Amino acid sequence: MEVDRRHFLSVLGGVSAVELMSSETKADELEHYMMDLLDQQATGNQLVVRRGAGSLFSGRGTPDAEGRLQPRLIEPMPERPTLVDFFKLRFAPATHVLQSATDALKKGDKEETILACLLHDVVLNLIKVDHGYWGAQMMEPYVSERVSWGIRYHQALRFYPDSSVGYEYPELYNRIFGKDYVPLPYIKQAYEFARKHRWYMDARMITVHDLYAFDPGMQVSLDPFIDIIGRHFKQPKEGLGFDGSPVAHMWRSIIYPDNPL
Ligand SMILES: [Fe+2]
Ligand SMILES: [Fe+2]
Repeated sequence: MEVDRRHFLSVLGGVSAVELMSSETKADELEHYMMDLLDQQATGNQLVVRRGAGSLFSGRGTPDAEGRLQPRLIEPMPERPTLVDFFKLRFAPATHVLQSATDALKKGDKEETILACLLHDVVLNLIKVDHGYWGAQMMEPYVSERVSWGIRYHQALRFYPDSSVGYEYPELYNRIFGKDYVPLPYIKQAYEFARKHRWYMDARMITVHDLYAFDPGMQVSLDPFIDIIGRHFKQPKEGLGFDGSPVAHMWRSIIYPDNPL
């Protein structure tokens, strides 16, 4: 098999990135590169990113000197990263979640709902498909049960209006999902379950504040939420990703999105 050395180096992040790799890593990388190439040649297909991939793993790249696309550079994280570090170094600018939390704060919603709004979509950096479930799971060890419950069910609830709180089906979804979109049966079941649950409003209010969180002109900051995070998010002392929790790997994947295995 022919290997284009320059293309291989650019896939790895350029010569300077390769210099930092051990020989084993370089050998592993070469093997993966050749496996991908073999698959491409067998199917005639180029590698593409699926729509459900998280935004840290997809999105627009910048062309390098040879015109090959490179993903945006990301900064290393502290040894014991906190939620605030993730906001600053991985989720930023996080405009949508900051706007929705700001809406909850301004309207005097309770602190747990403000936190749920702040956290409800950050998992989109990791994965987009079924983001309510992934997002709830990722937060579960660190927040109250109601906060993670709300995050889980906001995914299903956003397709179902509730005029009692002024939530109409978002026009945006007609564009994203198409005019005749019918939610899958598991989403309908989740909605029906959540609708009867005593915590229904915890999830519903996330969808309500979500409507006021797509404003291109609105400036937001994490500052008003630092104390709320301190009161309601149980920051592990070892750092997120290193506390041995069942979801630590999800945080680590966000810390190291370029690790090949
Ligand atoms: Fe969402
Ligand atoms: Fe959202």
